[in-house]
Amino acid sequence: MPKVGILTGGGDCPGLNAVIRAVAKTLWPQGYEVIGFLDGFAGLVEGRYLKLDNPSISGLLHRGGTILGTNNRNDPFHYPVRKNGQLTYQDMSDVAIENLARLGIESLIVVGGDGSLSIAREFKEKKGLNVIGVPKTIDNDLASTDQTFGFDTALATATDALDKLHTTAESHHRVMVLELMGRYAGWIALESGLAGGADVILIPEIPWNIDSVVRKILDRKNQGKPFSIVVVAEGVKSPSGELVVRQTIPDSAERLRLGGIGELVAKMIEERTQIETRTTVLGHIQRGGSPSPFDRILATRLGVAAAMAAVQHNYGIMVSLKGQNIVPVPLEEATSKLRQVPVDSQLIQAARAIGICLGD
Ligand code: F6P
Repeated sequence: MPKVGILTGGGDCPGLNAVIRAVAKTLWPQGYEVIGFLDGFAGLVEGRYLKLDNPSISGLLHRGGTILGTNNRNDPFHYPVRKNGQLTYQDMSDVAIENLARLGIESLIVVGGDGSLSIAREFKEKKGLNVIGVPKTIDNDLASTDQTFGFDTALATATDALDKLHTTAESHHRVMVLELMGRYAGWIALESGLAGGADVILIPEIPWNIDSVVRKILDRKNQGKPFSIVVVAEGVKSPSGELVVRQTIPDSAERLRLGGIGELVAKMIEERTQIETRTTVLGHIQRGGSPSPFDRILATRLGVAAAMAAVQHNYGIMVSLKGQNIVPVPLEEATSKLRQVPVDSQLIQAARAIGICLGD
C-alpha cells in the first residue's frame, strides 16, 4: 500500500486538524495509507508517528490545535541534541530521510508557515524529498497565497476582544490599547481594527509617531468622546526604531519572542493626554479555539488539494488560495519573502478614509 506522511510544524492555528482530516479522507479511497508524524519535524527525526485511521480523525473538523502536535524548535538540519547536559546542534536530516524510507513513505505533506515550509524546501533541494506544502498561520504573512487558514479565526477573536474593550473604555472614559500578534505583518491588527472600530491602528508596515496618535485621541475628546481604542501589532517598532522583544529563545527558529510594544504605547499616550490608558495583550487566545467556517472550508480545500498533488506525484509545490481557486505554486516562490500589508492597499485607504489614525 503506498504511503503519504503528514506533519504540522511551527505555531499551531485553528484549522490544522481540518487539513489532517481532509488529507486522510481524500487519500484512503485512492488506496493510500496516511502516516502522521508527531510534534512537527521532531517526530520525523525520532521516528514517532501514528497511523491515521478512521477513529483517529473522527470529530476533528471543529477542533482547534493539532492532534499531531507541533513545535518550532526542531529543524532536522540544525537539530537540538543534549549531550552531558550541554545543548548542541546536529544535522539529522539523513535520519529523517532514513525513517521515511524505512516506512516506505512516498511523499511528505508539510503543513506549516514560513519556517516549516523553508525546511520542506531544504529537504527537497538537498535530499530530493517529495514534499508538498500547505500554508498555515494566523499571521497571514505567507507569500503566494491570498490567505492562510487560521487568520480568519484569529481575526474574529481579536474583533470580539475589541467589541468587549469598547464598552468598558466608554464607561470609564479610558484609552484601551490592544496588542495583537502577527509577527512582522499587520494583517490581524489592521483587519480587526477595521472590524472592531478602532480609532488608532499601528502596524509594522507604517512608521508611526506619538504626536499623530495623541492628536487623534485629543480630537475625539474635544468632540465629546473621551475614550479611544488603539490597536497595536506586536511587530511595531519603538520610537527609537527597535523591535520590542519579551524574550530571546536561542534554540528556536523564531528567536525573538515579540511583546511589550502595547504597554510602551499606552504609557506614552497616558503621559501626553492625561487620560487613563490601559493595555490588554491578547496573546495565544488568538491561536486557540474552533476554526471559523471560512477556515474549516479553506483548510479542507487545501488538504484535498495537497492529497491530490500526492496522488498525481506533483511535488515541490505549496497548495495556495488564488482568488476563488486552490492552485499549486512552487515552494521556492512561497518561501521567498514575507507578505506584509501593502501600504497603498485599498484596506489602508479605507481605514484612512474613515478617519482611522495609522500613526503617520
Ligand atoms: O506565527 C504565529 C505566532 O502566533 C505569532 O503571531 C507570534 O509572534 C508567535 O507565533 C508566538 O510564538 P510562540 O507561541 O512560539 O511564542
